[in-house]
Amino acid sequence: MNMTVPDPAKPAAAGPASDPRDTVELFAAAAAHLVEGVAARHRVIGSGAMEQRAEGARVQLSNGRSVLDFGSYAVPLFGHRPQHVLDAVREALDTMPTSTKLLANPYAARLSRRLTDAIDPGRLTRVWFGLNGSDAVEAALKLAIARTGTPAILAVEGGFHGKSMGALAATHDAQRRAPVLGFLGDVRHLPWEPDAVARAAAEAPFAALIVEPVQGEGGGRFLPPQLLRRWSDDAHAAGAFVIADEIQCGLRRCGAMSLSVAHGMQPDAVLFGKPLGGGVMPLSAAVCTEELFAPLRDDPFFHTATFSGHPVSCAAGLAALDLLESGPERFDAGGAALAQGLGALAKKYPDILVDTRCAGLFGVLEFAAAEQAGLAILEAGRRGLLVAQCLTAPAVLRMLPPAAVTEEQLEQAFDILDTCCLKVQRRTVR
Ligand SMILES: Cc1ncc(COP(=O)(O)O)c(C=O)c1O
Repeated sequence: MNMTVPDPAKPAAAGPASDPRDTVELFAAAAAHLVEGVAARHRVIGSGAMEQRAEGARVQLSNGRSVLDFGSYAVPLFGHRPQHVLDAVREALDTMPTSTKLLANPYAARLSRRLTDAIDPGRLTRVWFGLNGSDAVEAALKLAIARTGTPAILAVEGGFHGKSMGALAATHDAQRRAPVLGFLGDVRHLPWEPDAVARAAAEAPFAALIVEPVQGEGGGRFLPPQLLRRWSDDAHAAGAFVIADEIQCGLRRCGAMSLSVAHGMQPDAVLFGKPLGGGVMPLSAAVCTEELFAPLRDDPFFHTATFSGHPVSCAAGLAALDLLESGPERFDAGGAALAQGLGALAKKYPDILVDTRCAGLFGVLEFAAAEQAGLAILEAGRRGLLVAQCLTAPAVLRMLPPAAVTEEQLEQAFDILDTCCLKVQRRTVR
């Protein structure tokens, strides 16, 4: 086949916006062809500039400014463009970036060994790889339903598991569920009560309980370990599987590699995503017991996907595990400074902040009202700090700094938040 080879001296046309005219044109394209409301929000937060280049905790904008990134959907846990991950990705790109799917894929095999050794060796021994977190959720739910023959699951009030159909079924977000409710199957969302699982089991059988040990999108709420253990015991006693969704809170974001394993829940699957690809590549995983994985033993093609086990993503995953295993103390130091800064804000603004909480590199500011958090998030963006909002808890602002964050960057971030809180306070008093 005759293919036209692009001129290597010319940069690729799809690169970042490099001059202000590009930016205007690209915002117009986004508004016309992407989701218009999201494009408008991007324009406000970036004050008309676009993201252009990133390094560690900093993102450079197209207008020459830079911002600190404590958001990014909790993905860049190691900072943007960590060298070790970039090197691994480049090596995979230069060797075997696309799997034949008919021959064995060394990257996926190696990562499955490393991941099962790291999480719960000897118990969680099987891995299914996806790209997005919801891929891992879909896989785990499908395996549990197939294995038990029971098309019903339990999930938790405030829980978020993604927006593809199966994942959305487990997600407790009435607004997003409503338009497709009839398609979402048999899911009961449990209140945070110790006997909730036992009561549900007495009413009707279920295939699995799916739970986030720390609810991310639901407002950065930490479920008590004894509640999680009780629910897990009751689900197992009812013959159901326990799926721990650690897509946001796992891999040391909240301290442990796996919170559900550390809490003694004996999960049948732990789900990972977001930073699993080193903050560079899309990668998710359902790390499962032999028992939960049985439908794939009976039919190896029961659940497959074209890009499952993608070599470049798995190469990035191997590098991410290197980073997770080599420097836990960096995570601890960042977490301690984050907790201290949050405590200081709580003391200074008791009239607008109803709570601050922190686990590892997951910090939460809970405002008295949703408009206050909204104002603080927009104001922080304008002043050079990106933080995360919560989909179903709009009064909450999440701070998700990378482990690579420096002391100075954390100080800058808290200076900005201090100014934002002051602005919110003044507006509230008036
Ligand atoms: C706990 C949890 N589970 C699942 C998901 C879905 O992941 P994704 O958006 O990558 O499909 C998310 C995303 O925010 C999440 O926080």
